[in-house]
Amino acid sequence: MFGKGSNLLSSKDLSHDDLIGIFEEAEKLLPVARKQEASDIMKGKVLATLFYEPSTRTRFSFETAMLRLGGAIISNAQMEETSSVKKGESLYDTGKVVSKFADVIVMRHPKSGSVAQLAEGSEVPVINAGDGPNDHPTQGLLDVFTIWREFGGIEGLTIGMVGDLKYGRVPHAQCELLKHFAGLKFVFVSPRELSMPREIVDDLRSAGHEVVETEDLDSVLCELQVIAHTRIQRERFESEEEYRKYKGVYVFGKDQMARCREDMILMHPLPRVDELSPEVDDDPRSKYFEQVTNGVAVRMALLKLVASGE
Ligand code: NCD
Repeated sequence: MFGKGSNLLSSKDLSHDDLIGIFEEAEKLLPVARKQEASDIMKGKVLATLFYEPSTRTRFSFETAMLRLGGAIISNAQMEETSSVKKGESLYDTGKVVSKFADVIVMRHPKSGSVAQLAEGSEVPVINAGDGPNDHPTQGLLDVFTIWREFGGIEGLTIGMVGDLKYGRVPHAQCELLKHFAGLKFVFVSPRELSMPREIVDDLRSAGHEVVETEDLDSVLCELQVIAHTRIQRERFESEEEYRKYKGVYVFGKDQMARCREDMILMHPLPRVDELSPEVDDDPRSKYFEQVTNGVAVRMALLKLVASGE
């Protein structure tokens, strides 16, 4: 059971009941995330954010969550340049040392499995804020929380994931979390070369879900209740030339929106490059800026659950 002292290294660490527990807690904290109420439940606690890879939202979101709960932060957004990694320190040692300062650690790194290595050394809970193309459990959680709130539940929905499903850690996390809810239909839209890893597809099917894969976004738009769009993950390709083959392959704009259901919700973890046109920002079905606030609430819930004195 996820709770006090737990790490969150992988989306696989969470059960159905854990998810509902986190969502209920996040729902209660939404007024604090929306700046309508104040809280001091993390007073006296310190969060360390260690980022070895670029971030705008995830780091600020965790830091905002901690500060608005009355806690404090120590932060390094350029660990690979300015920390003792430069001198050859191991992730294990970094984890051990930072855990002497902080009550909870949030870390992002370009290599799969690296957050787990740091957690080996840490004496306080460690939360994965993205490890390479592998996983991004807190983004997955805030996405699933957004769906849960919008539809009042998740069971039975038809969910489209669009973009770079091979390298995108966000769709990987979303699948791991969504699989706990019964009777879903997943529609994966990607170029064949960037399709969802086989083990995730197999896993969803064995859990009883329907999975459809296609390269053609237009042909499936009208049936989707959720569209989880993502960018082509430029930094994961071998070369710029390879990336250019896929750049701009799925652009979602007014024409696409016009073909969607009235009750569809459009999500995107951001940053967007060219795959999501600002012309649909004002459509009430576009939820990507609301997701940002939901993310603060979900991260507040996580910090509270793993590290508060309560
Ligand atoms: C995502 C990430 O870092 O994986 N961004 C985020 O955390 N909101 C998505 C992306 O970079 O495409």
